[in-house]
Formats: sequence, structure tokens, C-alpha cells
Amino acid sequence: MGFLGMLMQVIRVGVILSATMAAAAIAFPIALPECPDICGKVKIPYPYGTTEGCYLNDTAIFGYYFINCTTNTNGQPQPMIGNLNVTSISMEGEIDIQIYNSIDCYEESGRSLPKKTPTLNLPSFTVSATKNKFVAVGCDTYAYLNGYLNDQPFTIGCLSYCQNISNVVNGTCSGIGCCEIQIPEGLKNVDFTAYSFNGNHTKVWDFNPCSFAFIVQEDKFNFSSGYLTSLRNNLTLPMVLDWTIGNETCKVAQNKANYICGANTTCSDLNNGSGYRCKCKDGYEGNPYLEQGCQGIYSIYLQIYKTKIKERNTITIF
Ligand SMILES: *[C@@H]1O[C@H](CO)[C@@H](O)[C@H](O)[C@H]1NC(C)=O
Ligand SMILES: *[C@@H]1O[C@H](CO)[C@@H](O)[C@H](O)[C@H]1NC(C)=O
Ligand SMILES: *[C@@H]1O[C@H](CO)[C@@H](O)[C@H](O)[C@H]1NC(C)=O
Ligand SMILES: *[C@@H]1O[C@H](CO)[C@@H](O)[C@H](O)[C@H]1NC(C)=O
Ligand SMILES: *[C@@H]1O[C@H](CO)[C@@H](O)[C@H](O)[C@H]1NC(C)=O
Ligand SMILES: *[C@@H]1O[C@H](CO)[C@@H](O)[C@H](O)[C@H]1NC(C)=O
Ligand SMILES: *[C@@H]1O[C@H](CO)[C@@H](O)[C@H](O)[C@H]1NC(C)=O
Ligand SMILES: *[C@@H]1O[C@H](CO)[C@@H](O)[C@H](O)[C@H]1NC(C)=O
Ligand SMILES: *[C@@H]1O[C@H](CO)[C@@H](O)[C@H](O)[C@H]1NC(C)=O
Ligand SMILES: *[C@@H]1O[C@H](CO)[C@@H](O)[C@H](O)[C@H]1NC(C)=O
Ligand SMILES: *[C@@H]1O[C@H](CO)[C@@H](O)[C@H](O)[C@H]1NC(C)=O
Repeated sequence: MGFLGMLMQVIRVGVILSATMAAAAIAFPIALPECPDICGKVKIPYPYGTTEGCYLNDTAIFGYYFINCTTNTNGQPQPMIGNLNVTSISMEGEIDIQIYNSIDCYEESGRSLPKKTPTLNLPSFTVSATKNKFVAVGCDTYAYLNGYLNDQPFTIGCLSYCQNISNVVNGTCSGIGCCEIQIPEGLKNVDFTAYSFNGNHTKVWDFNPCSFAFIVQEDKFNFSSGYLTSLRNNLTLPMVLDWTIGNETCKVAQNKANYICGANTTCSDLNNGSGYRCKCKDGYEGNPYLEQGCQGIYSIYLQIYKTKIKERNTITIF
């Protein structure tokens, strides 16, 4: 039977699937052979990996692709990168993590409690400029965000000063009790800290004993006046990182032996100096970072056809 004939059969047995559904229905490999491809509920596609030999570690490619699959206090697997929890990794070049909140709290007397400066020092990642915002929350508050753009250090900041909670508007972060700024494109190696403007929060202490500063995934943050106190309990917040391979452009990388994009892929640049990404060509689906990771949609149809025939043969008699 020719391929077209098989396709007709597929349609006759009532399998009507779009190309994307077909691709989703077939579990193509996302990790190297013999390598774990999941940690808890989080899928781990190559170049990421949880065990030696399963992640990209070429010292000439400057990057960080090791996921530490730890066990949390409930005995469940918990993927981590450095000291941060990972909640999702996409083959399109994003990784969702939980990042620390910079919390600067005061006692009623104005005495300052210890505070931290969260840092994100992972050179193969940039902070997604489209998905995140830098936010400061408080009524006696300012915050700095330090980072590197094209290897140049720089600082941006946010300020919010108010005296009465009745001025604070729910649902908008417009400067009263909550200040937000856009993240510049290509930002790396960040740290950020929240501070009290007066140095003691005494004027606003009854409704706002702390200043907060964090990077947060925009669509997971909706400000309300309750946050002036409750964010004290949110030790981490969700944010999105962009990931790439190395720090060279496609054009430079393609001429090197360690170029990683597999067969039937295209290469795209992020920002200059921020590395490249791989993508399956149209008509192919899979993990473009594996040598033969991109599979033709036709061959995926063929696999569906074969499994359907197998299923039919086990339940009906010809
Ligand atoms: C990468 O491999 C080198 C040896 O080839 C090793 O020293 C280094 O620790 C590895 N890095 C990671 C992140 O596993
Ligand atoms: C993975 O995380 C655990 C717990 O945080 C730590 O003890 C271990 O050293 C980490 N492993 C690596 C290879 O970094
Ligand atoms: C990571 O997730 C675990 C639950 O799996 C949680 O207990 C822990 O506090 C989280 N740590 C961070 C740094 O977000
Ligand atoms: C805050 O505003 C409310 C309503 O406008 C007012 O009744 C209250 O006295 C104000 N509180 C202070 C401390 O100014
Ligand atoms: C944000 O919260 C306000 C009320 O606090 C609500 O009216 C609004 O719909 C919320 N927006 C989103 C996007 O959830
Ligand atoms: C709080 O700071 C302000 C201005 O910095 C100062 O005038 C005031 O005395 C301080 N209050 C306390 C209780 O430390
Ligand atoms: C803060 O923590 C609470 C309770 O876990 C959660 O419902 C809320 O969504 C968190 N806020 C943000 C902005 O993540
Ligand atoms: C804003 O939301 C908080 C809960 O976060 C609620 O207690 C407060 O009443 C709301 N304020 C207004 C003006 O709706
Ligand atoms: C897909 O990759 C295979 C193996 O490298 C190659 O033979 C084939 O020509 C490629 N197809 C397209 C459309 O590039
Ligand atoms: C990338 O930046 C380097 C210097 O930082 C510059 O020499 C090069 O021309 C830039 N390449 C592109 C494609 O913009
Ligand atoms: C890439 O990173 C390496 C190692 O840090 C550095 O030596 C090199 O100059 C960087 N190249 C570009 C194009 O930024």
C-alpha cells in the first residue's frame, strides 16, 4: 500500500487530527537516549538534563544547562537551577522559575530587621523583557535593580511614597503603594534590593511594615492593597527567563564544531551577544536541540496510522 493509501485508511478509521494534534499525540523524545526527561511534573528537554552526560556541558559553549533534580520536604522531586525552583522549561527558549522577594521589614519602633539582596547570576539566561516587570511595593519604599546589558553594568529603580492606605488603588500598579517598570531587553546577572525611604517605616507602619522589591511574571501579579502586608509571606515569586545556546550569533556558531541545532532546523539570534536558538523547520516537530530531534509530520502520521492499525487488529476480526 502506498503512503497515500495509508493516509486514506487513517481517515477511514476516523482519525482526524491536525498536524499539531498529531505531533502532540506522539511522544517524540525530548532528552538524549537513556536520559531522564522529567523531574517531578516538569519536563526536562535537552540541552537541559538532570544527570551527567544528559545535559549540554561543553566548556567552549558558555552556558548552564544542569537541572538539579532534588527531593523536597514532602519527598517529591523538585527541579532546581542553582538555588531556584524551576516550574517549566520550554523548547521555544523560556524557563519559568521562582525568584526571591527582597523584603525589608521594620518593627513598630522603627528597628530594622535583616534583609536580603536576591541575585540571579546565571550567564546563559536573560530576564524576559516581555513577560516580566520589576516591581516595588510599599508606602515608604524605593528599590534598585542592578544588572548587565551587553557586559555594561547599569542600575534602574522604582519609588513609591504614600501616607494613607485609602489612596492605594486595587488592580493597578500606578505608583501609589506599588511602582513597576519595564525590564530592558537583554538584561543579565541581576540583583535587586528594597529600601525604606525614611529609614524606618514608622509613618506607615500600621498598614505597611515592609518594603518589597521583585521581578515578577506580569500576568501572575495583580496588585491590591492587601499586598502591603501579605507579600511578607511570599518569599518567592514567579518569573520568566529567556535561554539560548552560548553567547554567539547563528552566523558565527554555525561554522563551529559544537553548533548544536539538529537536522531540519533553523537557527535564530536573540540579542547580539546573547546566543542563538534552534527551531524545527515547518513540517517538522520535536526537540530541535537533539541531532535527529525534529521529525517530519508525515512520519508522525505514519506512526499514528501504525498504532491505530495495531489497536484495530487487537479488537476487530477481519
Ligand atoms: C562540565 O564538565 C567539566 C569537565 O568536562 C566539569 O569540570 C564541570 O564541572 C562540568 N560542569 C557542570 C555544570 O556540570
Ligand atoms: C543539588 O541540590 C542539593 C540540595 O540542594 C545539593 O546538596 C547538591 O549539592 C546539588 N547538586 C549539585 C550537583 O549541584
Ligand atoms: C521550592 O519548592 C518547594 C516545594 O516543592 C518549596 O518547599 C520551597 O520552599 C521552594 N523553594 C524556593 C526557593 O522557591
Ligand atoms: C486616611 O484617609 C481616610 C479617608 O480619606 C481618613 O478618614 C483618615 O483620617 C486618613 N488617615 C490618616 C492617618 O490621615
Ligand atoms: C485585578 O484585581 C482587580 C480587583 O482587585 C480586579 O478587578 C481585576 O479584574 C483583576 N485583574 C486581573 C487581570 O486579574
Ligand atoms: C524615622 O525616620 C525619620 C526620618 O528619617 C526620623 O525623623 C524619625 O525620628 C525616625 N523615627 C524613629 C522612631 O526612628
Ligand atoms: C502570594 O502567596 C499567596 C499564598 O500562597 C498566593 O495565593 C499569591 O498568588 C502569591 N502572590 C503572588 C503575587 O505570587
Ligand atoms: C482592595 O483589596 C483588599 C484585599 O487585598 C481589600 O481588603 C480592600 O477592601 C480592597 N479595596 C478596595 C477599595 O476595594
Ligand atoms: C531533513 O533532514 C534529513 C537528514 O538530515 C535530510 O536528509 C532532509 O533533506 C531534511 N529535509 C529538509 C526539508 O530539509
Ligand atoms: C555584535 O556586537 C559586537 C560588539 O559587541 C559587534 O562588533 C558586532 O558587529 C555586533 N554584531 C551584530 C550582528 O550586530
Ligand atoms: C562569550 O563568552 C566568553 C566566555 O565568557 C567570552 O570570552 C566571549 O568574549 C563572549 N563572546 C561574545 C561574543 O560575547
